[in-house]
Parts: sequence; structure tokens; C-alpha cells
Amino acid sequence: MLRLFPQGEALDIGSGEGRNTPLLARYGYHVHTVDYSSEGLHKLERYARSKDLNNIKYSIEDARTIQLEPNFYDAIIAVPLLDHMNEEEGRKVASSLLKAVKSSGFIFIEVFTRQDPGAKAPAQSERTETVSETASFVKHYFEEDELVSWFSELKILLYEEIMKYDDSHGEPHYHGVARLIGVKPRNIYYKLKRYEEALTDYTRAIELDPEEAWFYNDRANAYIALEKYEDDTNQL
Ligand SMILES: C[S@@+](CC[C@H](N)C(=O)[O-])C[C@H]1O[C@@H](n2cnc3c(N)ncnc32)[C@H](O)[C@@H]1O
Repeated sequence: MLRLFPQGEALDIGSGEGRNTPLLARYGYHVHTVDYSSEGLHKLERYARSKDLNNIKYSIEDARTIQLEPNFYDAIIAVPLLDHMNEEEGRKVASSLLKAVKSSGFIFIEVFTRQDPGAKAPAQSERTETVSETASFVKHYFEEDELVSWFSELKILLYEEIMKYDDSHGEPHYHGVARLIGVKPRNIYYKLKRYEEALTDYTRAIELDPEEAWFYNDRANAYIALEKYEDDTNQL
């Protein structure tokens, strides 16, 4: 998957000790790795330095409040994160990830679903046997097709809801997991008639690649849609 996309800026959010940050860094991305737990990030930093992976920026921050630069990342990974908060918070974080990914960049998300044994777990005080460990940290188990509906503005490359085998700890067991990989289509905001956001998108694209004539053409169309003819001619 990573081989198919151009290297550039990556965000690993809710990275923990980081399965994915070192992988992205090895593929040549500049990785911004974010987690609100300093413990996990410090462990990750020690590991990355021991492997000479120096193209990583570490931020101890909360995904619900972090200000992400719009249209900046070529790749965004959040596995799993959106289920670690309530639905309203998760939707806000999803929308900030959609803004932060560049046109033609991709997002990879994993969350636990209602099929996970943890979703049916009784309250802590009523438990008589060991239940899925997810019950202690998942706040929102996703319904069928819910994750894909949150990211419907992406071009979906992969969407699946599976029972994932886990033998990494304790007795082997299964987890209910939804997994999505999607690409932000070029001109998405223009197509959705969200012209101000389209303008920001094209202006950022021009800063990154001033030689690409199509970006000027696209931006001109957004100015026209907003009836800002003066701004358009001033920037030609
Ligand atoms: C299940 S772990 C996944 C770690 C890593 N992505 C992986 O695949 O191995 C979830 C991580 O999300 C972090 N996390 C949960 N809620 C968060 C939030 N609101 N802001 C930042 N990090 C958060 C937790 O600290 C934890 O490290």
C-alpha cells in the first residue's frame, strides 16, 4: 500500500508505542506521531532513535483538541483511535482528519465494532469471567457501515468489517474490527460546492507545487464560483 503513494508528510495519530510510525519512517515519510500518553511516545522515541529513524516529530497531544494543518498530510493513520472517544468527539476528530489530508493523500482507519465481544460486556462489577480487553478503553463501538459513512467524501479503496484473530496475549480470541482505506479525491470540495475550502486546498497545492498549471486553473474556478473575480485576477 505505502509503495503506491508518494512519500511526503504522514500523521500517525493515537500512535501509542507505535507499530506504524517506524514503518512510515522507513518508507521515507516525515512522520508526525501523536498520542496523549507520554509513556508510549517516549518508548517509541527510544526505539526509533536506536534504529536511526530521525524523520519523526513527536507530539504529546489530545487528538480531540490538536490543531492539524489543513491539506498537509499525504498519509494519515489512526488505528484504532476514533472508538476511544464518544461518538460526537469521534466525528469531530474524523472531520479534522479529512481536512488535514491533502488531495490525493490517503487515510487508514481501524475501529472496534459492535461485533467485538467487549461491546457486549457487562459492567465491571457484574463480570463473572474475563471479557474482551477492549471494554476497558473503547467508548464507542461502531455499528455496521458507520465508519464508511463518516468518511463518505473519500474514494474508498478498501472497506471491511471482519472478526480479527488475536493471539498476541492471553487465550487466542477474535475482535470485531472495521477497517477503511480511502483517498481524498482531487477537487472534492469544488464538487461538494464548498468553494472556500476548495480555495484553501488549491492555494496550498500551489505553494507546494507552483509549476503545476492545473492548480491555478482549479483555483480560478473556485474564485469564479465565489464571484471573487478581483481576487482571481490579482493572483494570476
Ligand atoms: C490501541 S492503541 C493503538 C496504538 C497504535 N496505533 C498501534 O496500532 O499499535 C490506541 C492509542 O490511542 C491513544 N489515544 C486514545 N485516545 C487518544 C486521544 N484522544 N488523543 C491522543 N491519543 C489517544 C492511546 O493512548 C493509545 O496509545
